[in-house]
Amino acid sequence: MGPYTEGVWKALRFLTTDRLRWIERLGREYGDFGRERIGSRRLVLVNTPEMAQQVLVERAEHFVKSPALRVLSRPLLGEGLLTSDGEMHRQHRRLVAPAFAHQRIMRYAGLMSRHAAAATVDWTDRPREMLADMTRLTLGIVGEALFNADLLAEADELGRSITAAMRYATRQMRSLFPLTANWNTPAAVRTRKAIARLDQTILGLIEKRRASGEDQGDLLSMLLLASEEDGQGPRSLTDLQVRDEAMTLFIAGHETTANATTWALYLLAMHPEIQLRLQCEVDGVLGGRAPEFADLARLPYALQVFKEALRLYPPGYVLGRQVASPVTIGKHALETGEIVLISPYLLHRSPRYFPDSTRFDPDRFTPESEAAIPRFAYLPFGAGRRVCIGNQFALMEGQIILATLATTHTFRALTSKPRESEALFTLRPRGGMPLRVERR
Ligand code: HEM
Repeated sequence: MGPYTEGVWKALRFLTTDRLRWIERLGREYGDFGRERIGSRRLVLVNTPEMAQQVLVERAEHFVKSPALRVLSRPLLGEGLLTSDGEMHRQHRRLVAPAFAHQRIMRYAGLMSRHAAAATVDWTDRPREMLADMTRLTLGIVGEALFNADLLAEADELGRSITAAMRYATRQMRSLFPLTANWNTPAAVRTRKAIARLDQTILGLIEKRRASGEDQGDLLSMLLLASEEDGQGPRSLTDLQVRDEAMTLFIAGHETTANATTWALYLLAMHPEIQLRLQCEVDGVLGGRAPEFADLARLPYALQVFKEALRLYPPGYVLGRQVASPVTIGKHALETGEIVLISPYLLHRSPRYFPDSTRFDPDRFTPESEAAIPRFAYLPFGAGRRVCIGNQFALMEGQIILATLATTHTFRALTSKPRESEALFTLRPRGGMPLRVERR
């Protein structure tokens, strides 16, 4: 095949293949390191823990967030923590950090447990769409924890709007000629409507809080009362900045955990013996009541199950960075403008770091086994200065949701056929996740 035909063939595969299948192919074809040109994009797969550490931590100053994420998610996320770079990112991260301090996260445990128990009260013994259930649950949790708001009544509508906006941005990411959401194609119009629906909720919360003038001590009050340095002394965040940070935390704070807990319930349903072990743990510690913060240290298996689900199905399946100044990673010189892809999904499923890597085995995360995992081979939350700000929040939430649901219900698969995944911004079960739930 000549270079031209090969280029066209690669572009076609990029356009027509699901992003995850495409990344799997890169892993198979290139192994530890490989370069591929798609249209004007120069993509570089970096696929060892050591090189991931160099990109994310040791030489992080040579990289910025990938332009695809920045540009295509701008209509939805604006310039929030996920997408901003440089000084603005540093200042805003410092500003938001207190909402995720250990002391404060401890206080979220009670509300997480209460929401999880309430979510199951009207469940009857029949198949349920678990992704929808988990989206509603995690949206309710993030709404109360960060915004002191009850979003349950709007949850389904908000969930649908987020899916629509993400599907559009992901399609554009795969396109050779991405359009902006300002175009008038039917999909772009639908996307603008979806974003307007989300804005209605987020801007409504901001407006109400501003009008009350009350400091409720939550993330929203923190953003509204915060100020940043702009060289001429401190100034308040603009309404747009508050909107972007609030929208980012609202979406990043529940969509990921909804997918992760859904995959965990699926894996439990497919492995009844592991589900039974989890039920024995929660029965012994909780005796039928809902978990509190003080119980968590005695529920290690629930946390191990969640961590193992994050290994097999990491919602953040690829981390993208653009080279901002020339740098050498491993033995490879990278040029400005190249886009580096690090895939937690590929690293987590490599038999080199995880023996029998496709097997669901929560015992990989006993304290001793976890300590033996090579650093940077397990990256569900990324690493370095851009590590997930909500990682402790998410781990506790996952542990509490699994412990609460295992106390009252058993989950069963409707078929033994493995569920496929769909790679949008996050790794989701394709077509949802119907599971049979039975009250214990
Ligand atoms: C299982 C659940 C979660 C997973 C798997 C996850 C995964 C990630 C990953 C991989 C990144 C880094 C992206 C990169 O380096 O390119 C990230 C960043 C981020 N996450 Fe999470 N996340 C989860 C839950 C949460 C929660 C609960 C919140 C907030 C309530 C949150 C807020 C954020 C924010 C704001 C960033 C951007 C941080 C920055 O760049 O400074 N995430 N997340």
